[in-house]
Amino acid sequence: TLPKKVTIIEVGPRDGLQNEKLFVPTDIKKQFISGLRNAGLKEMELTSFVSPKWVPQMGDAAEIVADCLDEKTKNIVLAPNRKGVDRVYSSNCQAVAVFVGVSNTFNLKNINKTTRDSMAELKPIILELKEKNYFVRACISTAFYCPYEGKTNESDTLALCREFVESGVDELSVADTIGMAAPNEAFSLFSQLKAEFTETLLTAHFHDTRKLALANIFASLQAGIDRFDTSAGGLGGCPFAPGAAGNAATEDVVYMLERMGINTGVDLYKLMDAIEVVRPYLTRQIDTGYYRLHTQT
Ligand code: HMG
Ligand code: MG
Repeated sequence: TLPKKVTIIEVGPRDGLQNEKLFVPTDIKKQFISGLRNAGLKEMELTSFVSPKWVPQMGDAAEIVADCLDEKTKNIVLAPNRKGVDRVYSSNCQAVAVFVGVSNTFNLKNINKTTRDSMAELKPIILELKEKNYFVRACISTAFYCPYEGKTNESDTLALCREFVESGVDELSVADTIGMAAPNEAFSLFSQLKAEFTETLLTAHFHDTRKLALANIFASLQAGIDRFDTSAGGLGGCPFAPGAAGNAATEDVVYMLERMGINTGVDLYKLMDAIEVVRPYLTRQIDTGYYRLHTQT
C-alpha cells in the first residue's frame, strides 16, 4: 500500500544552485528560500559549508545560514569535513548533512579523499554532532552508478549505509547521482534499506538525467519510501559528476503525488512564484512538465 502523505526535502537552494556557472546574488538566494518555504516546503537544504574554491556558488553559505534559519522548518546545511562542521558550530544551524560516495573514484573527485578516509574523518564527527543534539543526515552518492567506475554493487551501498547507521545518523539520503538507475534497481535497493534500517529516516535522491526520476520515485514508493529530495525547477547537478543533470523537479513530483491522492503539503502556484524569483539569474532553461504547462496557460 502506498503512503497517504510524503515528505519533500527541497534541495534547490543547494543541489539546484551549486552547479550554476554564474553566481546567483545572495539576496536572490534568500528570496528563493523564503518563497520555497511559503510554498509549504518544510525541510530544505539551504546551502553547503564546502570550500569556496571548489564550489564558488556556495561561497555565501555563512550569510545564507545567518539570515535564513526558520524555526518552523528543518534547515539543513551540508558539511564535508571538520572545517565544514566547525563552520556549522559557529552558526545557529541545527541540522547537518554529511556526504560520501560509495565509489572511491567519485569520492576522490568530490571531496579529495578516499571513501575510507572520509568515513574515518566523519565517524567521530557524527558522534560529536549527536552528543551536541544535531540532526544528522548522511547523503550517499553513487549508490547505483558512478560516472567513473560504472555500476555500483548493491552490497557496497548497503554496507556504507550500515556504517552510517551504526555511527548514529538520523537519516540516510540515498542518491542516484548521475540519474542512471532503472526503476527495478530503485525498488530492489530501497526495499532492502527499508527492511534493514527500521529506525532511520530513509530518503531517495534521484537525478533526472535520463528522465527516469519520476519512475524511480514511483518504484521507491512501492518499496515503502515516503521521503524524497527534489529541486524546484528541476535544477541541480554535482560539479564533480560529469553528465549529471538536475534533480527530480519538485513541481513534477508534487503534481504526480497529489494526482495519486498522496498529500505533500506543497502549493504548486506558490512554488511557481518561488521559481520565478531565481529564474532570471540562471544559465539554464526551466523545462519541467508542470512549469511548461503553467507558463503556457
Ligand atoms: P581540499 O583541497 O582537499 O581541502 O578539499 P584542504 O583540507 O586541503 O583545504 C584546502 C583549502 O580549502 C584550505 O583553504 C581550507 O581552509 C579550505 P586555504 O588554506 O587554501 O585558503 N577548506 C574549506 N573552506 C571552507 N569550508 C570547508 C573547507 N574545507 C577546506 N568545509 C574539500 C577538500 C572537502 C574542502 C573540497 O573537496 C570540497 O569542498 N568539496 C565539496 C564538493 C561539493 O560541494 N560537491 C557537491 C556536493 S555533494 C553532491 O552534490 C552530491 C549529493 O547531491 C548527492 C548526489 O546527488 O549524489 C549530496
Ligand atoms: Mg545531488
